[in-house]
Amino acid sequence: MISPASIQDVMSRADIIDVVGQFVRLKKRGANYIANCPFHNEKSPSFSVSAAKGIYKCFGCGKAGNVVTFVQEHEKLTYPEAIRWLAGYYKITLVETERTPEQQQQQLAEESLRILNEFAAGHFHDVLLNTEEGQNIGLSYFKHRGFTQDTIEKFRLGYNPESGDAFFKAATFKGHNPELMEKAGLVKNRDGRHYDSYRGRVIFPIQSMTGRVLGFGARVLKSNERSPKYINTPENELYIKSRVLYGMYQSRNAISKLDECFLVEGYTDVISLHQGGVENVVASSGTSLTEDQLRLIGQLTKNLTILYDGDAAGIKAALRGLDMALSQSFNVQLVLLPDGDDPDSYIQKTGANKFYEYVKEHKRDVIGFRLETGLRDAGTDPVKRSKLVNEIAESIARINKAEDFSLQDHYIKEAATRLKVEEAGLVNLVNKYIRERVEQAERSQRKEQVLPEPEYIEEADELPGLQPRIAEDTQEWHLVRLLLEEGCREYEGYDSVADLIHETIDTEFLQIPLVRQIYDSYFNYRAAYGKHPDIAYFINFPDAEVQRKVATVLHANTDISPNWSKNYGIESLSGELNYINDVRSTLNYFEWKNLIELQKELLRRIQEEQDPLKLGVLQRKLIELQATERQMVARQGTVDKYKK
Ligand code: UTP
Ligand code: MN
Repeated sequence: MISPASIQDVMSRADIIDVVGQFVRLKKRGANYIANCPFHNEKSPSFSVSAAKGIYKCFGCGKAGNVVTFVQEHEKLTYPEAIRWLAGYYKITLVETERTPEQQQQQLAEESLRILNEFAAGHFHDVLLNTEEGQNIGLSYFKHRGFTQDTIEKFRLGYNPESGDAFFKAATFKGHNPELMEKAGLVKNRDGRHYDSYRGRVIFPIQSMTGRVLGFGARVLKSNERSPKYINTPENELYIKSRVLYGMYQSRNAISKLDECFLVEGYTDVISLHQGGVENVVASSGTSLTEDQLRLIGQLTKNLTILYDGDAAGIKAALRGLDMALSQSFNVQLVLLPDGDDPDSYIQKTGANKFYEYVKEHKRDVIGFRLETGLRDAGTDPVKRSKLVNEIAESIARINKAEDFSLQDHYIKEAATRLKVEEAGLVNLVNKYIRERVEQAERSQRKEQVLPEPEYIEEADELPGLQPRIAEDTQEWHLVRLLLEEGCREYEGYDSVADLIHETIDTEFLQIPLVRQIYDSYFNYRAAYGKHPDIAYFINFPDAEVQRKVATVLHANTDISPNWSKNYGIESLSGELNYINDVRSTLNYFEWKNLIELQKELLRRIQEEQDPLKLGVLQRKLIELQATERQMVARQGTVDKYKK
């Protein structure tokens, strides 16, 4: 970890005008500088940088932040990476704080693999361009497929010769370690003799979001070969298949600028699309999407468009990952390319404009797509149709973040019409699936909570019938989620939900230090910038613990608060009601808790009070509080719910 003093050092040296000026052309206007915004397309400048305040803000797209967030956003880096970038730029030596031995081990392994991979990528690329066999076989293959020199360089494509151990020899000569080469999947060891894994293959380096070479895909050239078409790097400390997306490095800026990510199947699809001018594209490399991959895309955009061949068997695999995308609030669209074409062949025929046009015209949302293919499959078979109704309802139930309720509503209407079922019935079915998942989540949460935390047992005795710590944990984190997800929404009588929370919550009651930290940072940011911090602010928070926790809280099952349907009898799917009820029921908890504390305090004073007159006042006050509590409890149903 970078030491706080070093971060301080970087922050005090970094000059926002200087840094932003590296990437955009700034013009002085009054006290500020302006430019065309680098984060969205525009013709007249609405991007403003204030040297005095050390911040930038775009009045067009709303992006704002300080010098570090600028580097993060622009270069698609994490917080520590941005600090390192700035340190490099200003030639500041960073002091790193101690890591645990396991962390050191892991970092060492990653680092040495990275160095080896970097060498290998450079070597294969060099062989492709500058050796006779490379040019005659590898390069001519790529040229034959229509790849230009620029493209070959942009993707650092390479080649390794047929002969058994050319790479092994070159790497050994440079002092690389044979065991590491094996681990990296670059060489094989047969009875102590090493030979190259990729023989007579063209090579596609797989890079991280920041350009590090994590692994390789190596393709055969002869179609009659009996070995697999691609040999991919085996899993190791650096290459974790479920966390990489091919093309992420080359595509990250376009994805975020166009606010949409295309997902294709193959390495060559990504490359051809880039060459054709479509640069917002990554490949999942033939498998269905994983949660980590979605998270990677989610840093850049929530609009995911999946492109598949008309005849693709891949569609089934793709559809499997999509329920997850729906629950992560992605807007997922599917596009089937014309029969017989894949993205690679299609763009080579059409070029970028027609390609975008085709995609725009043929986009269908996942649920619509499922409906369509499902209805076609089911025909008039009543059993199949009822199975389809259930499947669709289950999918719709996954779209359950508060902000997506209108979307859910939309799907219910559409599905009801097309499946020819009563809308009300479908609503019930969707609700049933939501409830099931809520209950399931509660069950697994309870399981996690079986181990009592000894330090709180004492406290629990004081409030009979309650286990405050456990309930609080849930309620406090629920409050954080509300703040982050709904904070900027309207609330009657207040500027926003956040302001309501700010006025209602007594921070004394926030007992989890991390909650307190996030809560305070939220309102500090709000005070400093006059706007709500967005979720990205916390996802990139300097404190890794905060990042991790925020990510879990946001990705947790965040559907309808299990209480409100019970307590208010509301089963409606109206998004508006949902978040308002959610806010209300969470704040009620803290208000209720406040009441309990006040009562305890009064009781203590009543026991000590000698003056009968004052005693009377205190007792009346207590009765008042108890009445308020009863009202509140009645409104909420029962306090039992806090017991969990
Ligand atoms: P494709 O067979 O569509 O490959 O597999 P491609 O990249 O489009 O290659 P061309 O156009 O035929 O040359 C899609 C993806 O599935 C993975 C690779 O990531 C490939 O890009 N794959 C495929 C493998 O990992 N191993 C294989 O043997 C085949
Ligand atoms: Mn292909």
